[in-house]
Amino acid sequence: MKTRQVGNTDLHFTVIGLGTWAMGGGGWKWGWGPQDDDASIAAIHRAVEQGINWVDTAPIYGFGRAEEVVGKALRGLTPRPLVATKCSRVWDEQHNVSGNLEERSLRLELERSLRLLQAEVIDLYFMHYPLPEQDMERGWETLSRFKREGKVRQIGVSNIGLEHLKRLQAIEPVACIQPPYSLLERGIEKEIIPYCRAQGIGIVAYSPLQRGLLTGQFSKERIESLPEDDHRKRDKHFVEPAGSVNLQLVEGLRALAARRSTRPCREPIGCSRPRTS
Ligand SMILES: NC(=O)c1ccc[n+]([C@@H]2O[C@H](COP(=O)([O-])OP(=O)(O)OC[C@H]3O[C@@H](n4cnc5c(N)ncnc54)[C@H](OP(=O)(O)O)[C@@H]3O)[C@@H](O)[C@H]2O)c1
Repeated sequence: MKTRQVGNTDLHFTVIGLGTWAMGGGGWKWGWGPQDDDASIAAIHRAVEQGINWVDTAPIYGFGRAEEVVGKALRGLTPRPLVATKCSRVWDEQHNVSGNLEERSLRLELERSLRLLQAEVIDLYFMHYPLPEQDMERGWETLSRFKREGKVRQIGVSNIGLEHLKRLQAIEPVACIQPPYSLLERGIEKEIIPYCRAQGIGIVAYSPLQRGLLTGQFSKERIESLPEDDHRKRDKHFVEPAGSVNLQLVEGLRALAARRSTRPCREPIGCSRPRTS
């Protein structure tokens, strides 16, 4: 699989990485319904076998569950895939989530992530959201301190607008951003991509398949039958009136993908399922 340099850094990521949000499981507002940890670990191993060299995760994905699964899956693998994780989303005993960028909180998060991931250093550490806004710069300074301390190799930020990105870039270069980017979410094209190009900031897109909606595996019936604790049941792109319009768009894409495909594909769209040939 091809790799690309992440911005101006020494990290080289395969063009496809493995996201682990869904591996956090269900039972919380942003969950993906029930998940089996052994199946998640097998999926990570399969992705690595297929050539993927980096995994994206976050503490908030199942309140530590996804990071723990990633840690178990990567234990003993050589070479060990690169790991990106995040900070700044914290939760209380009732699982109410809020933003915290205070140094004490960020340090606790970092130590817990290192423990769950069974890692000595985090390859790419993202501020998950630059919130609360008034603490954004202070939080960024703390992340750059973590880098100087050798606990993280590179630092980035997710879910950020251009003006805020410029404010962080003025303090310490941003290695990479992680924005939503898919055929249905193209907001970064006008200003953010050109700015990142000019500044040498890497971009790793999240939800490129729009949480599965663009894979050709969805229908109205499947959306309706999603478990109650799968957040997609309430997602603006999945619910009506947008749901039907988007499913129609996917039908158009199916034909386009078939015309543009360079290799025979047994799967319905985009040849995106891992294949052995
Ligand atoms: N920084 C952030 O705020 C943020 C936000 C969102 C995501 N992320 C990261 O980005 C990663 C990827 O985003 P995402 O998980 O939202 O969505 P995605 O990559 O757009 O879609 C993932 C879903 O697509 C379906 N899928 C993938 N390949 C398929 C194929 N070949 N055929 C059929 N279905 C397929 C699966 O859905 P089913 O489960 O229905 O099979 C899968 O769970 C996350 O896991 C997370 O690591 C970060």
